[in-house]
Amino acid sequence: MSDSRAGTEVAERHDAGEPGAAAPAVRVRGLVKRYGRVRAVDGLDLDVPAGAVFGLIGPNGAGKTTTMLAISTLLDPDAGAVEVFGHDPVRQRRAVRRLIGWMPDFFGLYEGLSCAEYLDFFGAAYGLPGPLRRRQTADLLELVELTGKRDTDVAGLSRGMQQRLGLARTLVHDPRLLVLDEPASGLDPRARVDLREIVRELARQGKTILISSHILAELGELCDRVAIIEAGRMLAQGTAAEIRQAASATVAVRARLLGGEESQRRAVAVAAEAGASAVRTEPDGTLHAELPGGQDEAADLLAALVGAGVRVVAFDEAHGGLEELFLSVTKGVVR
Ligand SMILES: Nc1ncnc2c1ncn2[C@@H]1O[C@H](COP(=O)(O)OP(=O)(O)OP(=O)(O)O)[C@@H](O)[C@H]1O
Ligand SMILES: [Mg+2]
Repeated sequence: MSDSRAGTEVAERHDAGEPGAAAPAVRVRGLVKRYGRVRAVDGLDLDVPAGAVFGLIGPNGAGKTTTMLAISTLLDPDAGAVEVFGHDPVRQRRAVRRLIGWMPDFFGLYEGLSCAEYLDFFGAAYGLPGPLRRRQTADLLELVELTGKRDTDVAGLSRGMQQRLGLARTLVHDPRLLVLDEPASGLDPRARVDLREIVRELARQGKTILISSHILAELGELCDRVAIIEAGRMLAQGTAAEIRQAASATVAVRARLLGGEESQRRAVAVAAEAGASAVRTEPDGTLHAELPGGQDEAADLLAALVGAGVRVVAFDEAHGGLEELFLSVTKGVVR
């Protein structure tokens, strides 16, 4: 995986200056990454507009981290193309690294360093001169509200404070794009609100922010756009409201009927009358139908069936793929 990284640095084209203003922050086309037999990312397309706060949402193992690693130059794709402000993370690593602030889901603590020393260390790693580093450290501690902890050992910070310090670390070289992998995980509600406020402030400053979570509710109101992925594939992209609407636009129902063929014919007619599509029956007397709408429409169909004299012994909603996924990511269900 880490192959000829050092070599490509040398061969890299030095055109990282000012990429075209119109270039999207991130453009992913047909991204594929395999680990042995597992296709962690399986033909993913993704567009993150410059200036957006963009949520990458999916259950555990969906491919979020893998996608973010490919964007952040830390993992080479098996197939497909990635661009960061028009630059290729494989062939133009250095240019992309200058443009990106990457915050992994877990990061080392560097015990024995104070918060200020920690930020100063990373500033030095990015080659910032001393006076600039000191100013930058003070500004960043202020931004993440850790000024009062500047001389505290990083190991002595709470989880929320550590996350905020980690976020400050991604900002030391003033990147245009922040890639934050599950920054809110493990935070209590208060710490999440604090984190959200900082992300909002960074967005106001013009940063593009790509942020992952397995819980839609965590990102829904923060993000301009979200993408829901599962098993390495894109299931839906849009505003949280658009996705919610698409997920709840139809309901699939299943009914067990008594009374043989005549009863089934009547049930099919009632379902068609109710505007159902994909209506079919099985030999055991099970009726399947998809209805526009939600639970109200499902209840109306049941009433109409019974009203038409169809004898129903069981009736339930069979969630569709997107709705089921939506429910699982909304609740943060681990799969
Ligand atoms: N280094 C690796 N070696 C082998 N398999 C891996 C490796 N990294 C990830 N995978 C597999 O690739 C798939 C996607 O993993 P990835 O970490 O990208 O998912 P994720 O969406 O970030 O999940 P989570 O919510 O748990 O962080 C999973 O099936 C995972 O087991
Ligand atoms: Mg992950």
